[in-house]
Amino acid sequence: MLNKKVEKALNEQVEKEGYSSSLYLAMASWAEVKGMAGVAEWLYVQSDEERMHMLKFIKYINERGGKAIVPEFRQPGKDHPSVKKLFEEVLKHEQFISASINEIVALCVAEKDFTTQNWIQWFVNEQIEEEKNVRTIIDKLELVGSQNMYFFDKDIMALRQAAAAADAGGA
Ligand SMILES: [Fe+2]
Ligand SMILES: [Fe+2]
Repeated sequence: MLNKKVEKALNEQVEKEGYSSSLYLAMASWAEVKGMAGVAEWLYVQSDEERMHMLKFIKYINERGGKAIVPEFRQPGKDHPSVKKLFEEVLKHEQFISASINEIVALCVAEKDFTTQNWIQWFVNEQIEEEKNVRTIIDKLELVGSQNMYFFDKDIMALRQAAAAADAGGA
């Protein structure tokens, strides 16, 4: 049986991953309306990934004899001053998620739940990747500046493919 404190923390993470999915979906929609198809696609794909993260937590909780709860998600912001500000918000949010995952690791150690500690390592590694990918995007935005958004928008999905290829190569 899943330790009750660990179960509660995992259910809180269900909410955080689900909110991440909603947040990136709202951002994708914002970018789409602004005519930035590439940025929108990047965020739509990211929103799907966050939904998969939420599902992973739900299934793990249930498999271990706990009870996953799907919560209500708060409304994400509707507007963004710029694409750069948007990605800075994404980075801040991912850092918040990383800290949250680390707290679960610490709780697993304190509660001697080494099975969950082992399981959640996938998320520890995933967060390193996510933060790195968003930093690459922000660096690129600094490089191109707001004058070249057309080229940035065309280029952004190539960054995702490059990151995926590096992952597949075990990098
Ligand atoms: Fe996530
Ligand atoms: Fe994420």
